[in-house]
Amino acid sequence: MQAAPTIPGLRIEPPLVNGSGVVDVVSVDDAWNLPAGALRKLGAFTTKTITRAARAGNPQPWADTLDDGSLLNAAGLPNPGIDAAARDWAHLPELLGMPIIASIGGSVDDLPHLAAALDRAGWAAAIELNLSCPNVDGGLVAGDEHATAAAVASVRAVTSLPLLAKLTPACGSPRAVARAAVAAGADALTCGNTMPARAVDPATGAPLLGAGPDGGLSGRALHPIALRLVAEVAAAVDVPIVGLGGVDGLAGADRMLDAGATIVGVGTGAALDHDLLAALAAHLASRARVTAT
Ligand SMILES: Cc1cc2nc3c(=O)[nH]c(=O)nc-3n(C[C@H](O)[C@H](O)[C@H](O)COP(=O)(O)O)c2cc1C
Repeated sequence: MQAAPTIPGLRIEPPLVNGSGVVDVVSVDDAWNLPAGALRKLGAFTTKTITRAARAGNPQPWADTLDDGSLLNAAGLPNPGIDAAARDWAHLPELLGMPIIASIGGSVDDLPHLAAALDRAGWAAAIELNLSCPNVDGGLVAGDEHATAAAVASVRAVTSLPLLAKLTPACGSPRAVARAAVAAGADALTCGNTMPARAVDPATGAPLLGAGPDGGLSGRALHPIALRLVAEVAAAVDVPIVGLGGVDGLAGADRMLDAGATIVGVGTGAALDHDLLAALAAHLASRARVTAT
């Protein structure tokens, strides 16, 4: 099953988005910021996940590169909180010249409040529900179809903005979760978030991250896992899918599209290679031209 390339009410051209929280222009830690010019290659920009109250994040370091080039992170959703984000990020559409997808998360009970605040603020073209953060308590909502349905429905009730639900690869029944999210009102699905994982210093056994040994795995090692998630979800539902996880070159983007994604997502790859977004944008535009002729 192959769905339309754009999300109803949201044009993403080229079909390329960033993964929330990885490359940014307004991160609370400069290490994750890229020049706006690099991000302007995207078709839409996803913000860091916004929570109800401001969060400082976990103790540093938030992330470390593993031997195979993958990344482990436990940033802990650092963000300025909904009041500041709703007010201070209103410049993002003009700064980047593209639709902004506002990511919201933290406690599932807060989601309708966050969505309503963004709806009022007016700068978000769409909302992504982060139902899949392994680094906060209760973050893996999308591991369960009933919890997913309740979360999506609670937001659908308060906003008519296009709604993306971000799923987790740490899920035994991704098809059921995908169907539940779409039935509850999600317009598109982001597949997906990091995989819960553990890594320690091979020499000392000490944790690599400030939060301890556990975190979320992204980048190269996540890619085959994300491809499977995309394929499972594409077989179950007929909505646009953002294929996100371990894309670090043109071949990875092609694999995501072949697996059933309609939009390519990239996070870690763009953080490690600042030229990747430009290369992916050109590649996806030329693929679209070939398809059109
Ligand atoms: C440092 C870091 C911070 C992240 N923060 C968020 C976040 O705030 N919200 C979210 O939904 N995903 C977050 N993610 C997950 C990414 O958006 C993405 O789903 C994941 O990294 C897989 O894609 P990638 O392999 O291309 O990085 C974060 C990932 C990293 C590495």
